[in-house]
Amino acid sequence: MSENHIPVLFDEIMEQAAELAAEFGELSWALDATFGRGGHTRGLLERHPRLKVIALDQDPSAIAYGKETFAAETAAGRLTLVAANFESLATVRELCPAGFDFILFDLGVSSPQLDSPERGFSFYNQGPLDMRMDPSLKRTAADVIRDASEEELVQIFRELGEVERPYKVVRAIASDRKLKPFVDTVQLSGLIERVDGWAKKGFHPATQYFMALRLFVNRELEVIETALPVAVESLRPGGRMAVITFHSLEDRIVKQFLERQRV
Ligand SMILES: C[S@@+](CC[C@H](N)C(=O)[O-])C[C@H]1O[C@@H](n2cnc3c(N)ncnc32)[C@H](O)[C@@H]1O
Repeated sequence: MSENHIPVLFDEIMEQAAELAAEFGELSWALDATFGRGGHTRGLLERHPRLKVIALDQDPSAIAYGKETFAAETAAGRLTLVAANFESLATVRELCPAGFDFILFDLGVSSPQLDSPERGFSFYNQGPLDMRMDPSLKRTAADVIRDASEEELVQIFRELGEVERPYKVVRAIASDRKLKPFVDTVQLSGLIERVDGWAKKGFHPATQYFMALRLFVNRELEVIETALPVAVESLRPGGRMAVITFHSLEDRIVKQFLERQRV
C-alpha cells in the first residue's frame, strides 16, 4: 500500500494562509477537517511557527498515521488529531473557543485509501466491496448492492454517479445477486464492464458507479451540507475557509452555499 498522498492545490492553500497571516500578524489556530496524510497540515505548521492545528479524519488509520508521523508536533501541543467525521464539527469547535483563523476541507478519499485493495474503493484492485472511510459505519457497498431495490440502485447511480442510463447494469446486478452475493470489487466492476463496455468513454466504465456507491456509503454530500455552516460559524472574524472539491456534485453544494452566504 502506498503511504503517499500528494496534497492537491498545495501552493494555493499555502498562499491563502500566508495572506491571512499578513492580515492578522500571525496565524494562531487552523482546522484541517480532512487530515489524510497531513500534507496540508505539515505545510501550515512549517510556515507558521506559532500556529496550532486541530485535524480531523473519519478514517482511524489516517489518525494513527498522523500520531506516528507527527509525534513531535503532537507532543509539542501544535497538532491535535481527532478521529471524527467533520459532520460533528460543532463539538470539535469547542476546542478553539476564539475561532479558527483558517479552515480547510480537502474532500474525498486519499491515495492510500484508494490504493489499499482491502478498503474496496478501487475497481482495478481485487478486494472486499467495502468503501467505508470510517470502518465503524454499519453499511458497506456490498450491503447496498445486496439490499437496495432496483429503483434505489438506479437512483444512486443516476444521482450520485451521474450515469445517464444505469438500467441494464442494475438489471444485471439484480439477476446476478439472486445467484451469488456481490462480495468483491472486481466482481462488480467486471459485471459493469461486461454490460456497459468501454463505449466512447475515456475511462473505465465502472468509474461513475463506484463513485456513486462511495458517496452513498459515506453520505459524503449530506455531511458537507451539515458541516459548511458550522465551519463558517467557527471562523474568527476575518478568518478564511478553503474547500477543495473533486466531484461536480460536491462542487455545486459548496458554490451554492457560498452564494447563499453572500446574500
Ligand atoms: C483528499 S484526502 C485529504 C488529504 C490531505 N489534505 C493531505 O494533504 O494529505 C481526504 C481525507 O479526508 C477524510 N475524510 C473524507 N470525508 C471526511 C469526513 N466527512 N469527515 C472526516 N474526514 C473525512 C478521508 O478519510 C481522507 O483521509
